[in-house]
Amino acid sequence: MTTAVAAPPALAARGLTCHFGGLTAVDSVDFELRQGEVLGLIGPNGAGKTTLMNLISGLTSPTSGDVLLGERRLTGLPPHTVTRLGVARTFQVMRPFQGLTVRENVAIGARFGSAGGPGNMRAALAKADDVLDWIGMAPLGRAEISRLTTGERKKLELARALAMDPTVLLLDEVMAGCNPREIGDVMELIRRVNARGVTILLIEHLMKAVMGLCHRVLVLHHGKRIALGTPTEVAEDPAVVEAYLGQRYAESRRKSNA
Ligand SMILES: Nc1ncnc2c1ncn2[C@@H]1O[C@H](COP(=O)(O)OP(=O)(O)O)[C@@H](O)[C@H]1O
Ligand SMILES: [Mg+2]
Repeated sequence: MTTAVAAPPALAARGLTCHFGGLTAVDSVDFELRQGEVLGLIGPNGAGKTTLMNLISGLTSPTSGDVLLGERRLTGLPPHTVTRLGVARTFQVMRPFQGLTVRENVAIGARFGSAGGPGNMRAALAKADDVLDWIGMAPLGRAEISRLTTGERKKLELARALAMDPTVLLLDEVMAGCNPREIGDVMELIRRVNARGVTILLIEHLMKAVMGLCHRVLVLHHGKRIALGTPTEVAEDPAVVEAYLGQRYAESRRKSNA
């Protein structure tokens, strides 16, 4: 990844901090998302992962610190502006528009996309059909949301974000609740999106997916960055084993590497 190292970062957080009353959910976090990389974001429940994503996407305002997209400060901008600038996200708790079809949901994503998206609904629907075709969901285009399985809903979330033509994609537990075949599908999809040049920040609990997809991994614990490195470095870091991975995971890794 030497080219990725030389290029300026796609996105950076500087001293990013978020208080909720007396709780510090994100505590002076610094990191850079390199152009074209997949950066994993892991840590125990309540570590501040989703809050960090909310701070980047403009859903939550930081108490202090900054988010930069290239040279541009995103701090304080509303979510729709952040999306227009090329940062799209999925939600841990899915929020599809009930009563609409799959393609209509994706079309709404397209209209909120970078560069303003297609001007009219017909163009947005055409864009939605392209994205659904690209991710292999075209047969479900006219299905009602209520008919979808969890795995299909997760792919719909991804499709909606992709319809925004992001340069940076934030994925919050897109594999949670998926069966093993769906997990394989979503991993393959993330690889294909990344191969198109999209930079990705990926919150994920499933270590197999983290190890298989990520170039580097950022670890949060009680809102603080406790590690940042390659998947192997992070998996072998005693502080990460202690806070999150646990002794059993470390031992099973040692055995499978032996
Ligand atoms: N809107 C909010 N108001 C108050 N506390 C919150 C809010 N959002 C998250 N928190 C708290 O911030 C901490 C971090 O939460 P979160 O970012 O969701 O963690 P993670 O995604 O790593 O599980 C938790 O203690 C959570 O209860
Ligand atoms: Mg979360």
